[in-house]
Amino acid sequence: MDPKTALPLNTSRNMPILGLGTWQLKDDTAGTIAAALELGYRLIDTAVDYGTQPGIGEGIRRSGVERSDFYLVTKVEETDDAYEATRAYLGELGLDYADLMLIHRPPSSGPGEDLWRGLIKAKEDGLTRDIGVSNYSTDRIDRLIDATGEVPAVNQIEWSPFGYSDDMLRYGREKNMVIQAYSPLTRGKRLDDTTLGEIAGKHGKSPAQVLIRWNLQRGTAAVPKANQRAHLEENIDVFDFELSEDDMARLDGLNERFSSLGRLPYA
Ligand SMILES: NC(=O)c1ccc[n+]([C@@H]2O[C@H](COP(=O)([O-])OP(=O)(O)OC[C@H]3O[C@@H](n4cnc5c(N)ncnc54)[C@H](OP(=O)(O)O)[C@@H]3O)[C@@H](O)[C@H]2O)c1
Repeated sequence: MDPKTALPLNTSRNMPILGLGTWQLKDDTAGTIAAALELGYRLIDTAVDYGTQPGIGEGIRRSGVERSDFYLVTKVEETDDAYEATRAYLGELGLDYADLMLIHRPPSSGPGEDLWRGLIKAKEDGLTRDIGVSNYSTDRIDRLIDATGEVPAVNQIEWSPFGYSDDMLRYGREKNMVIQAYSPLTRGKRLDDTTLGEIAGKHGKSPAQVLIRWNLQRGTAAVPKANQRAHLEENIDVFDFELSEDDMARLDGLNERFSSLGRLPYA
């Protein structure tokens, strides 16, 4: 594995296994994006409500990286017209297409069939290469599939050893749907865990690096956010060590359905 390692999607395409999250990436967004691309990050995750889309576009242009060499994920909101919103967000980013458009979260009224139909049309019209969901339970995904026949390529959900779901992992494998972990560093809230610290110490790595590596070895993608240069460098330096089966089992054992946002909406 290396930073270019990609996971196969249920379409014919692939998605880089590691990316950069940009919620609250407010401190020189464009400069941070350009630095990340230079360091080797190949996936950037955003959403309109992060306010980072214009800065991401600027950072990409500044970096000079070819369009085919990076992967852009953004999201439509519950109250959006998904098709029109996709066009608007591409305008903010200054891009012709997204690699992956997600429904940010299911609307309160149901699974969001109309949003999903709008994204299907956006895909058909070339505004996005692939489509997926975020914060979805297996039940809601089933209802989207029943309504349209279209299986989401990705479910982006909060996911770390402290909060994950074996049922969701199994469901993802069954449907060939990739799980992309958000808040994979628990927003810093569990980095001082003793077990995590022991495993990190054994490998001469940081707790954050172990949390990222746990995802990579499970075949789940991850989008850690980092504004600080030292964090950007550290989080991509995860391809030169391997967690043992025992390390993985100990990390799996930390699951307590912890959520740094308050609740795991899928579990
Ligand atoms: N779909 C959704 O509903 C949803 C919800 C939440 C998040 N997300 C996405 O997932 C991304 C990541 O999640 P997140 O931002 O909530 O949390 P996170 O990635 O778990 O944690 C980010 C925090 O950890 C710090 N950090 C980064 N690298 C570190 C390291 N090596 N050591 C110690 N601290 C480190 C960052 O500091 P600095 O920034 O100061 O470097 C920041 O304060 C978001 O940015 C967003 O793109 C999606």
